[in-house]
Amino acid sequence: MTVRPDDPAPNPHATEAEVEAARENNKLAQVLYHDWEAETYDDKWSISYDERCIDYARGRFDLAAGQVELPYGRALELGCGTGFFLLNLMQGGIAKSGSVTDLSPGMVKVALRNAEHLGLDVDGRVADAETIPYEDDTFDLVVGHAVLHHIPDVELALKECLRVLKPGGRFVFAGEPTTAGNFYARWLGRITWKITTTITKLPVLAGWRRPQAELDESSRAAALEAVVDLHTFEPSELEAIARRAGAVDALAHTEEFAAALWGWPVRTFEAAVPDEKLTMRYRLFQYKAWLKLSALDEKVLHRIVPRRFFYNAMITGVKPGAPAQ
Ligand SMILES: C[S@@+](CC[C@H](N)C(=O)[O-])C[C@H]1O[C@@H](n2cnc3c(N)ncnc32)[C@H](O)[C@@H]1O
Repeated sequence: MTVRPDDPAPNPHATEAEVEAARENNKLAQVLYHDWEAETYDDKWSISYDERCIDYARGRFDLAAGQVELPYGRALELGCGTGFFLLNLMQGGIAKSGSVTDLSPGMVKVALRNAEHLGLDVDGRVADAETIPYEDDTFDLVVGHAVLHHIPDVELALKECLRVLKPGGRFVFAGEPTTAGNFYARWLGRITWKITTTITKLPVLAGWRRPQAELDESSRAAALEAVVDLHTFEPSELEAIARRAGAVDALAHTEEFAAALWGWPVRTFEAAVPDEKLTMRYRLFQYKAWLKLSALDEKVLHRIVPRRFFYNAMITGVKPGAPAQ
């Protein structure tokens, strides 16, 4: 399994001139930024292809799609990154075969390598979600995770999803930032970064300070992040976009409120200190805390707090028409 020979090659070491040009060109920024982080992406985001991430991906799918007949035949992923969503969904019994696509050639390469290691029936292409390079009525399911907020014209991308879906086929996109969630996550992240990088200047905490060059690189990456992150969403707006694109049964859900208020400072702190300071015991503690807070969100806070205040949004919809017999 390799990237198609006519697809562009990864470019993990962008020149200064390219980075400069990317500030004015969103799609170039997407490619440079994601090519740059492709090989380290799974480590950075603790992505794995075992029970932990299979359960997470499957949980998001079930929450968005509800009770549906499984497995789907052929699935397409847009903005696949390293394959986190589709490869784990396939392992979780959602689809039999898949196609991973991303604007970043580096990401498609890593996703295909991950699929090969897992022995999954997957092919891949470098592709822009606004112009999906597949025929009409090709897929039974289209999925994506944390991708819609990067796409300039989200309605056009959903129209494209509906075009390549067979009648009766479904799309599921998860991991999108809500407008309110993005606001508090950014502020919590900024404050935590400032506090951590300031107090680790104290000689007594010197062992907790990452080398300045690494901190500078993280700050530069954060600046490009501002170029690649285009949207935040109101759940009702996501439903309206999906309906305008032509979907039926469009439905948005949200999740993570207490879990996000806890998780964003934690993730920022972890990015600001040397990796070796974060022991296995610490990581396990954080993971269990996140699970407990997510349960609190789901069982209690969802009844009290309006859905737009939760951090993560997901949207599903169906292509009109009866499935072929
Ligand atoms: C935040 S990453 C998420 C990756 C992966 N889905 C995950 O959840 O780990 C967003 C991905 O979307 C891709 N992307 C951005 N704009 C895109 C577009 N217009 N079409 C297709 N992919 C795009 C990026 O290259 C990147 O790999």
